[in-house]
Amino acid sequence: MKINHIGYAVSKINKAIERFQALGFKTETEVIEDKDRNVNICFMSNGAYRIELVSVLDTDKKSPIDSYLRSVGDMPYHICYECKDIYMEIDNLMEQKFKVVSKPTEAVAFDKRKVAFLMANNTGLIELVEV
Ligand code: NI
Repeated sequence: MKINHIGYAVSKINKAIERFQALGFKTETEVIEDKDRNVNICFMSNGAYRIELVSVLDTDKKSPIDSYLRSVGDMPYHICYECKDIYMEIDNLMEQKFKVVSKPTEAVAFDKRKVAFLMANNTGLIELVEV
């Protein structure tokens, strides 16, 4: 499966953008507010490599990256793979012992395309995006 991006949990998105710019990454998007997931998102790329910086939008509310920031701090925490049919791909992966962490929902940062998160013992967290 083609990799779409590597997701980083970051505590301060604007600082993280500066740091990754120093490493040669360029921003592809503005900072996008995803109120459904309570996160800010910014995509950056460096040649063929694409990263997604994710920070908490409202710190008074729960967000999907709280545990990563609390336990380790800023860190890469998922790899996103592209698929054609997200429901079919989830079925395939479940046969390979993956468990669904969050079911397919539309994502603001992906022009409302569907994303889902899954996990297996030997892979950590993965994301699927329908393209
Ligand atoms: Ni992602």
